[in-house]
Amino acid sequence: MTPLAAGARLALLTSGGDAPGMNAALRGGARVAGALGFEVLGVEEGYVGLLEGRVRPLDVHAADDGARRGGTILGSARSKVFPTPDGQRRAREVLAEHRIDALLVIGGNGSLTGANAIADAVAVAGLPASIDNDVGCTSMAIGVDTALNTIVGACDRIADTASAHRRTFFVEVMGRDCGYLAMTAAIASGADAVLVPEAGRDEAAIVEGVARAMEAAYARDSGKRRVLVVKAEGVKVDAATLKARVDARVAATLPDVETRVTVLGHVVRGGVPTAFDRLLGARLANAAVRALAAGERGFMAGWGGPGIAHPPCAFDPYVVLTPLDEVLAETARLMRGDSELARWRRKIVEEIEPILTR
Ligand code: F6P
Repeated sequence: MTPLAAGARLALLTSGGDAPGMNAALRGGARVAGALGFEVLGVEEGYVGLLEGRVRPLDVHAADDGARRGGTILGSARSKVFPTPDGQRRAREVLAEHRIDALLVIGGNGSLTGANAIADAVAVAGLPASIDNDVGCTSMAIGVDTALNTIVGACDRIADTASAHRRTFFVEVMGRDCGYLAMTAAIASGADAVLVPEAGRDEAAIVEGVARAMEAAYARDSGKRRVLVVKAEGVKVDAATLKARVDARVAATLPDVETRVTVLGHVVRGGVPTAFDRLLGARLANAAVRALAAGERGFMAGWGGPGIAHPPCAFDPYVVLTPLDEVLAETARLMRGDSELARWRRKIVEEIEPILTR
């Protein structure tokens, strides 16, 4: 472990889908790095900007200001060229041209895969940032808490209008192939049913499950004014098809009940980051920069929790540093459904479903 010398050049970049709290992580990383005597640079638009050599001093005041907002002050992108051999070669050249000693990559699975690919060229560290909460070796990714609060706020509003008309609403939320946001939002918003990819059901079973949940909800409670079904985007039945099929299925049993669809889409990804996401970004960045300074390389700073293999780091009792290749392997297991966390999430789905629809 060779510590970074004072005056070392640390570059920060945000990559992939933006997540609220990325700016707070940039601010935290820049301020800690400055305090440790490093020169702090920002790479514009993730790996796309890196390949184009768009590296500039990071404006700490812009980061201070941005920390209160969603998005990312550096911009973000998903590069198709960076993963190719030519892209990797170019990235190494730019890192050398700009004399970059260390790189802090803030993003999700694809971004961390990119960080690992150049870990031999530069001292690299990653922070998990993705509203999907689909990164292994961290109990929370930056942006998840804000996205969840946005969804719950939207569901509360939908519940008002749904109750006024005694309607059923299907609310689709982002999350790519991961049902975490849908599941937690369903619990927090008092939904009547939740549809997540982890349940592994086909279209017919999904339609039947929703119809039964609606019938049970209205039968159980004659004063029932609304039914809310939260659907993860990873469930491969589009919301309009789901509505049409459920409408047909309940036409005879619930003739007076109308259904509506709301796809929240990118609304879920923007907005003012919650205090938790700001702190998460700042604390992960603090620990990552201090670890880089101390000579650690090729790791992700994640938020501790059950099932996370390594002990907390020396810089923050909630932050765990995990080698990037371990993070990527664990993320792949999580998405395949055969990690400890994936099994626990499936168990929660099984336990929660009958409780929501009771
Ligand atoms: O990974 C974050 C995410 O917002 C997913 O939830 C969603 O599936 C995807 O990105 C949308 O990507 P894009 O902004 O490229 O449409």
